[in-house]
Amino acid sequence: MSTYTQELQTTATALVAKGKGILAMDESNGTCNKRFEKLGIAPTAENRRAYRELILTTPNLNNFISGAILFDETIKQSSSTGESFVSMMQGLGMIPGIKVDGGTKPFDGHPDELVTEGLDGLADRVSEYYKLGARFAKWRAVITIGADIPSAACIEANADALARYAAICQANGLVPIVEPEVLIDGDHTLDRCQEVTAATLKEVFIQLAIQGVELEQMILKPSMVIAGLSALLPTPVNEVATATINTLMQEVPPTVAGIAFLSGGQTNEQAAAHLNAMNVMFPQAPWAVTFSYARAIQQSALDKWCGDSANVAAAQKILAHRAACNSAASVGTYTVDNDRQLALV
Ligand code: 13P
Repeated sequence: MSTYTQELQTTATALVAKGKGILAMDESNGTCNKRFEKLGIAPTAENRRAYRELILTTPNLNNFISGAILFDETIKQSSSTGESFVSMMQGLGMIPGIKVDGGTKPFDGHPDELVTEGLDGLADRVSEYYKLGARFAKWRAVITIGADIPSAACIEANADALARYAAICQANGLVPIVEPEVLIDGDHTLDRCQEVTAATLKEVFIQLAIQGVELEQMILKPSMVIAGLSALLPTPVNEVATATINTLMQEVPPTVAGIAFLSGGQTNEQAAAHLNAMNVMFPQAPWAVTFSYARAIQQSALDKWCGDSANVAAAQKILAHRAACNSAASVGTYTVDNDRQLALV
């Protein structure tokens, strides 16, 4: 038993508490700047700080959000009152988390495939983040679907890195969020996505076992099983829910503390409706099934804010609404009608 066993267990359980999910707000400076630039917002550290303050001071956010994943810059920043974001979150009962991967790089020898880097010095960085107040971490691996990809080599390299990251986190007090994202980009069918997702998850759990990762002390952050964005026909909501949960039931041991999906480019309503259908149709699933969304919670609020302090309250209202909708979806009480009606209020 590690020094942290009890704490890791408590954190993992709290992250997927009933009616709550995780807010991903850990965009790297590069990704955040790209989203800012699309809206004409200057890509400065102060604007990134102001935007993260807008998010974390949203009234009632803590009713729906158990924890938020921060980027390295953000975990060291403070609100305009001078209080650190970490301390603010702790006061509100939201657990601070941290992105620790170093981003994706081309996977040498494998055109169009990516591998996530960042294991060098990771133990030291994780213990530093623990001292700063983080209690969980995230590492995102990316699997691309194409004519002849993903390769077995790409799946294995990414699964190996995810497992080594997870073991390092647990040894140093952070609950690992293990995120193998099968990209939604492309025109692949739902069946193809299911095949790739199953192969990826199988390898991830093989590697997690090899590294001795405690499944009760980790959260899986998968993508949903869904047809590609440019596929001809959209998939009905119940089919996505069924294919996703069946794949997870087949590949994910029941002892994993929880499942928290990424939104991956789905619309706000799709992300909520799919999560909701899973909770309505599969109440017997062995894990809590909730969200760890970035775009499906944040993007509409960012569009509203647009870098103008006059829009903060309106943007926060939108953010709280999206968080509330996904909280409802995590317990199977979301409806698109309610979503639209409440959005108008
Ligand atoms: P999206 O919900 O926007 O896919 O982001 C989730 C995430 O944290 C990606 O790593």
